[in-house]
Amino acid sequence: MDAKSGTNTKTAKLTVGDKDYSFPIYGGSIGPEVIDIGKLYAQTGMFTYDPGFTSTGSCESKITYIDGDEGVLLYRGVPIEQLAEHGDFLETCYLLLYGELPTPQQKSDFDNRVTRHTMVHEQMSRFLQGFRRDAHPMAVMTGSVGALSAFYHDSTDISDPLQRMVASIRMIAKMPTLAAMAYKYTIGQPFVYPKNDLDYATNFLRMCYAVPAEEYKANPVLARAMDRIFILHADHEQNASTSTVRLAGSTGANPFACIAAGIAALWGPAHGGANEAALKMISEIGTVDRIPEFIKRSKDPKDNFRLMGFGHRVYKNYDPRAKIMQKTAHEVLSELGHRDDPQLQVAMELERIALSDEYFIEKKLYPNVDFYSGITLKAMGFPTSMFTVLFAVARAVGWIAQWKEMIEDPTQRIGRPRQLYTGATKRDYIPISRRK
Ligand code: SDX
Repeated sequence: MDAKSGTNTKTAKLTVGDKDYSFPIYGGSIGPEVIDIGKLYAQTGMFTYDPGFTSTGSCESKITYIDGDEGVLLYRGVPIEQLAEHGDFLETCYLLLYGELPTPQQKSDFDNRVTRHTMVHEQMSRFLQGFRRDAHPMAVMTGSVGALSAFYHDSTDISDPLQRMVASIRMIAKMPTLAAMAYKYTIGQPFVYPKNDLDYATNFLRMCYAVPAEEYKANPVLARAMDRIFILHADHEQNASTSTVRLAGSTGANPFACIAAGIAALWGPAHGGANEAALKMISEIGTVDRIPEFIKRSKDPKDNFRLMGFGHRVYKNYDPRAKIMQKTAHEVLSELGHRDDPQLQVAMELERIALSDEYFIEKKLYPNVDFYSGITLKAMGFPTSMFTVLFAVARAVGWIAQWKEMIEDPTQRIGRPRQLYTGATKRDYIPISRRK
């Protein structure tokens, strides 16, 4: 699949010196058109240069659409607000993977398939014993997901559609189990096996919080909040971690290795690590009266402090997920009797001040999905070190759907960018005896 499945009605002209070149322009179903520069180097001997990929479309996709100016997020055309309100996470997984909302029968079959893959090979519990107990859960996730290819050889041949489907189901099914194991391991509690009579989110919460000493009673408000948080984080177009998964997948690497690469990329504080960083920042601010001091720092070009949970490469309006996250934060905190949680007060006041500050307005910096998630997850009992793990559990389906789309694209090639070289020109080797 390349831009050719878009509509080519115009061309872009480029003049270099006394030479004119033209390149086809393709339009998609919605969103910006693209200039296909695939032949630019062959025709001009020059590369494009766009280090942060701020103006670069890396692929054609039918999965997720974001309108950053309007604050719109669509999964296969369905608005995130409607899925978060009326859908559930496994239904969203089906939609992202197969392109349509499932019929009742398809939903039941899919839920059953995922449910029956939630256990992990018993050796995985011994694999985790190799980590120190104080290992960061994201390190455990990166290692254990990468290790899945050592346990599930029968679903690593990416040329086999059946093996691709099994690997996809296994990934979606086992991420919560591995995440709960990473959490239990770091707090020194025994692993809790999944139960097939529980829904996805309830099963996950039970694997995190149940102990052998007593029956676990799930709180339906928290389970619904967890499921909705998974929906909000499921996919997000060609973000850094998804692009990492696509690039790894373009080499033919097995799906478990590609997802492990995505987890590693998500860990960064500028990306999925921002929810952990945002809560740490809110804790550091501590009280409402200290907010102006931090707002001032975030505007100081000499200070590399940034308001974590604010700003976005694409959203230059309110991240639609942040609005739903804020509502979920209120629901969870009210349910748990923390309505007046001081950190929520600080977060809401910080948002109010930032949104009325000239600097933030001019730079179009709004709260993103990570701003309120930390407060919500902390209230649900998760340590900050687990926040990005939960992001990875949810994003696994987005990574898999994008990887699947790329693998099934008959025109897909290995991703191999070029560069602007500004290093030393050719020079001879100098024997060490002659170096001063
Ligand atoms: C996620 O890509 C995705 O879709 C990601 C994600 C997903 O679902 O996959 O949405 C999840 O990663 C959300 C983003 C989480 N990250 C954070 O909250 C970290 C804080 N935000 C920033 O680091 C930043 O906004 C980024 C990384 C999110 C975006 O960076 P860009 O697009 O490269 O923008 P930039 O860094 O060039 O900032 C533009 C300007 C700069 O000022 P100038 O150089 O123009 O003077 O805005 C300023 C920045 O200094 N700025 C901020 C700011 N974010 C940007 N100033 C203060 N606080 C901030 N948070």
